[in-house]
Amino acid sequence: MKANGVRLLVAGGAGFIGSNFIRYILAAHDDWQVVNVDKLTYAGNLANLEDVEGDERYRFVRADICDANAVGEIVAEGEPDAIVNFAAETHVDRSIDDPGLFLRTNILGTQVLMDAARKNGVARFLQISTDEVYGSLGSWGKFSEDSPLRPNSPYAASKTAADMLLRAYFKTYGLPAIVTRCSNNYGPYQFPEKIIPFFVTLMKENQPVPVYGDGGNVRDWIHVDDHSRAVEAVLLGGRPGEVYNVGGGNERTNIEITKLLLAAMGKPESLVRFVPDRPGHDRRYAIDDTKIRTKLGVAPQVPFEEGIRETVRWYLENEPWWRAVKSGEYLSFYDRWYRQKGRS
Ligand code: NAD
Ligand code: DAU
Repeated sequence: MKANGVRLLVAGGAGFIGSNFIRYILAAHDDWQVVNVDKLTYAGNLANLEDVEGDERYRFVRADICDANAVGEIVAEGEPDAIVNFAAETHVDRSIDDPGLFLRTNILGTQVLMDAARKNGVARFLQISTDEVYGSLGSWGKFSEDSPLRPNSPYAASKTAADMLLRAYFKTYGLPAIVTRCSNNYGPYQFPEKIIPFFVTLMKENQPVPVYGDGGNVRDWIHVDDHSRAVEAVLLGGRPGEVYNVGGGNERTNIEITKLLLAAMGKPESLVRFVPDRPGHDRRYAIDDTKIRTKLGVAPQVPFEEGIRETVRWYLENEPWWRAVKSGEYLSFYDRWYRQKGRS
């Protein structure tokens, strides 16, 4: 795809990764323009983008990606060169609690965006998928792009269905669609329901942290800026119809992550509470990112311990941000979900 004067439509840009990606792109490319299309669900927050609000290269439009009329108009009017779709329901526990919305947004919403891209001749469609489509690993091996798709949660199943639709739109209509599948992101502006910001904000208040099962589940952690660099590279140099894995090369058990956070915050290990496991909990994720490294020359740059230290500092310095977020709808899910686990 062309690299100059790109008009980008970012769906779901008010969430964690989307907002970091928009900030990264505006800093990296003086002559790019970004339209951010977001419904502003509980996870969407315009405060995540306060620093770019006044930038004339950036515009926000509130819309639901499932609304075909609205999306059709936005794409026809904006004539984007590329669409990057971050918009999704993203929290695995919420998908277990109430799967319906996940199927609507993550599958139908993607289809609506792809239809608009197809009808308006958009040159690139990039779907931000997840390593969760591959299911769970035992103690060895890694997911490659050719690993079988074996999703285990309603969230993962909905993301897998969207990936399959993308493949079908590429084969059937020639939509220039590409999929990225990334591992667990961390960094600033992550909604404090995901383990790292959730635990940091609990620890700050000396509250116990609920570790699921035996704490031995493994995730591969990547800094959100490394994910943004990978998405940019795939956008510019990826081949339509292909899938690219993105990983951090940082496998850690949840109890290791918890202890790292406790140490960074100077809090005692007595705050750890082992609680009943997440149903269908994937044991281990690990990413083989040989393809993106060798074909597009991208590799993670942020050393994990340094990234975590900076991330913890960010949440401690931005308390008003997370205190505002941890209210309203947040509290109703939190109370319902963790009461079942016997901790509230
Ligand atoms: P998030 O929950 O922080 O943000 C999601 C954003 O999508 C929010 O701004 C929300 O308002 C918006 N949105 C939701 N439904 C919408 C709809 N119907 N119409 C328009 N906007 C809507 O999520 P995130 O963690 O930033 O994840 C972004 C993407 O990256 C998702 O597609 C997710 O599956 C994928 N992903 C996330 C991770 C991770 O570790 N967080 C890892 C790999 C892939
Ligand atoms: O792997 C990529 C995926 O990473 C993304 O596709 C998802 O959108 C994103 O939410 C994330 O999914 P996880 O389920 O891995 O993230 P979460 O932060 O919810 O959980 C991380 C690990 O921590 C997981 O093994 C479950 C565990 N956990 C989580 C919470 C919220 C706990 O032990 N206790 C908790 O309270």
